[in-house]
Amino acid sequence: MLDFLLDKKGFFVAATRPKTHGQGRDTERQMSYVRALTCKECAADYPVEPRTVCENDFGPLEVAFDYTAMRGNVTRESIQAGPDSLWRYKDLLPVEGPPRAGLRSGMTPLIRADNLAKKLGVKDLYIKDDSANYPTFSYKDRVVSIALTKALEFGFDTVACASTGNLAHSVAAHAAAAGVRSFVLIPHDLEEGKIVGSLVFGPRMVKIHGNYDDVNRLCSQIADKYNWAIVNVNLRPFYTEGAKTLGFEIAEQLGWQLPKHTVVPVAGGTLLPKVWKGYREFIELGLVKDNQPKMYAAQAQGCSPVVEALRNGRELFKPQKPDTIAKSIAIGNPADGYYVIKIVNDSGGYGAAAQDQEILDAVKLLAQTEGVFTEPAGGTTLACAIKLIESGRIPRDEPICVCITGNGLKTVEAMQGQFADVPIIPAKLNDFDRVVDELAQQPAPGAALTSPLVSVDPPTPRTQPTAATKPATP
Ligand SMILES: Cc1ncc(COP(=O)(O)O)c(C=O)c1O
Ligand SMILES: [Zn+2]
Repeated sequence: MLDFLLDKKGFFVAATRPKTHGQGRDTERQMSYVRALTCKECAADYPVEPRTVCENDFGPLEVAFDYTAMRGNVTRESIQAGPDSLWRYKDLLPVEGPPRAGLRSGMTPLIRADNLAKKLGVKDLYIKDDSANYPTFSYKDRVVSIALTKALEFGFDTVACASTGNLAHSVAAHAAAAGVRSFVLIPHDLEEGKIVGSLVFGPRMVKIHGNYDDVNRLCSQIADKYNWAIVNVNLRPFYTEGAKTLGFEIAEQLGWQLPKHTVVPVAGGTLLPKVWKGYREFIELGLVKDNQPKMYAAQAQGCSPVVEALRNGRELFKPQKPDTIAKSIAIGNPADGYYVIKIVNDSGGYGAAAQDQEILDAVKLLAQTEGVFTEPAGGTTLACAIKLIESGRIPRDEPICVCITGNGLKTVEAMQGQFADVPIIPAKLNDFDRVVDELAQQPAPGAALTSPLVSVDPPTPRTQPTAATKPATP
């Protein structure tokens, strides 16, 4: 059982700590702890500038920090003295000057999900609820806060992105607030809420015939030709660092502890490795104890290249053509899929994939037990978490955190046909009495949603099992 304290907003924080400035540098300082951009493959260093891959081997570049200089300066106290937003972790982010976007993003609720835990038969279950992120209700507000700040630091006047919907919302909103021009490129067949939810912020939107992977390919060409900040292309090393803040918040809100098991949705593969990097950084700085946390990848069955590789014990995934209701995570050729597989295996976690109906059932289950309405991406994550629990991959008596990354109000059409017809009656009391009697004969909403909710995905024997990849014993 984790020790935690509730603050006024219901966060699990170490609330006894005073809000002092500690011994750390204050949040107004102008110097960062960034050392360089480093190739994840050959470790070659590059200057801190808009750049995506290594010239030697096309390996992705990642921001490297000076942890030695951080030690003793970046402390629980220095973090708690920061703002009530993701910028409380500024010392761990690749930003030189003051934050220039997303001043209210992050610090979303971590819910202790006791109702859901009871249904699933687990002891300690937490929902990290980024469906409540500000201002556009998905985890993308984290990565965009950093990318937009960086775009302004580098002096770009136009920002752009390739998106499955949520990133477009976030880029368009943050760009509007920062007063810069935005271009958002999306697959032609996204949900209406995903389109209107971007257009309202006034971006230049272009729909591309094809799927996300086609959009992404085009954006790489655009990045070469136009001098724009494409947040998930030429600003990718900075953008991805923003995703660490989800991991930082989970740890801080749990009272400076890590959950033993973290289930994360995977599309392009940014989030999972960065939540892990966030955990590792907190361990490195002595802010949390190393409890050897395990990471689990969740994908829709109709787009599950990473999970398929995990199941078959392969280090490399085979790209797929997506076909799933979970459109925001329908990326068949994930840019960072290789690293997701590596981290899941290194941590001793695993992966699961959920069918469309299982995804929708999980959306309902989360809504009807915890009052959180997520989009199909979140339904996927919960349905996969359930499969991992039911199959014994995740033990029932250890702390589990499920990352809910997007809001259901953006994708209401996904839920069409999932509910009984709503009665329409004249405005007369006896008609209402009749409806109450009729409803009393029917099962209460949610009654059918019991565990096991989904068909169980039995552990498949791996072709090359290693100590780190063996399933956890319950
Ligand atoms: C709601 C939601 N969850 C999760 C993801 C997965 O993100 P990643 O590309 O970091 O794997 C996305 C990506 O678009 C998303 O929109
Ligand atoms: Zn390299």
